[in-house]
Amino acid sequence: MPEVLLLPGDGIGPEIVPEAVKVLEAVGKRYHISFSFRTGLIGGAAIDACGVPLPEETLRLCEECDAILLGAIGGPKWDHLPPKLRPEAGALLPLRKHLGLYANIRPTVLYPALIDASPLKRELVEGLDLVVVRELTGGIYFGEKKREKLDGEERALDTAVYTTGEIRRIGRLAFEIARKRRKKVTSVDKANVLESSRLWREVITELGKDYPDVELEHMYVDNAAMQLVRYPCQFDVILTENMFGDILTDEASVLGGSIGMLPSASLGGRVALYEPAHGSAPDIAGQQKANPLATILSAALMLRYSFGHEEAAQAVERAVVNVLDQGYRTPDIMTEGGKAVTTSEMGSLVAAEVSKC
Ligand code: IPM
Ligand code: MG
Repeated sequence: MPEVLLLPGDGIGPEIVPEAVKVLEAVGKRYHISFSFRTGLIGGAAIDACGVPLPEETLRLCEECDAILLGAIGGPKWDHLPPKLRPEAGALLPLRKHLGLYANIRPTVLYPALIDASPLKRELVEGLDLVVVRELTGGIYFGEKKREKLDGEERALDTAVYTTGEIRRIGRLAFEIARKRRKKVTSVDKANVLESSRLWREVITELGKDYPDVELEHMYVDNAAMQLVRYPCQFDVILTENMFGDILTDEASVLGGSIGMLPSASLGGRVALYEPAHGSAPDIAGQQKANPLATILSAALMLRYSFGHEEAAQAVERAVVNVLDQGYRTPDIMTEGGKAVTTSEMGSLVAAEVSKC
């Protein structure tokens, strides 16, 4: 029996995670998979309950389960805390590191029903289907950080560090993913300025020789940010380091209509973690306005990558398409003529659809 650990977290997290659970239960019924669910504390919710953002108990639950579904973490209530006690640096980043989740997969697809929700013109964005493969446990996020006093001033530093091994393993994954898609990898770096990017480019170029069937191009990150809004359909697989991936995936997400549509899978260790790429959206928390589709689509990735159940994964993805085709919309993807629904109604619609398609 697959055991799924739910970490709803903060803000809209506790509203969107139950919607993905509805869908997993519906798809489980259809394909005879009986999931068991446990729930753990993380982020601000954990700080409030037990004083730390990543309790030992949560780590233990993570080690015992087969896959983790996380909602979102953080919010203004905990922003004043020192970094180690904040939900981001004190919980999510150490959790990714602890579980060895070095690869973050973020597919961005424009569903035809959402074409008017995209900020780009129809002819630029029609058919968009790309995936960002983001390195997740290295780079400037995890390099040495320091504050010091210097000549009466304060000085802060963050260090961008990569080893050949770290670059090679994420590179391999990107090439493997590209092989099953349109066979193109765009490796994004800042090799004209950063030493870590120069090493990145050398290693990926070398690795590319093992994949002669995959086209490899290199692009500077500033250009990639521009190309994403100028002509996004040129991309198939974007391979990049941790911080560039963080930035570019937020940018890419809205091309598909809303960041509320962008799922993610963090892979690399025994247990994988699935989470929507958006944040905790404290401004709309508790109002049933959040879009649960990114979390539901993250659950589809869980079916695919953790449980190897491609059919069930596709059933969830099809159900999402059908519900969108029927015109149902949360506020973030609302366009003229759409039928407004709440977070929970959207989850129920997808769950009902999963049993049919
Ligand atoms: C993401 C988020 C996180 C990140 C934050 C919450 C630490 O923005 O998953 O993209 O920067 O990785
Ligand atoms: Mg981000």
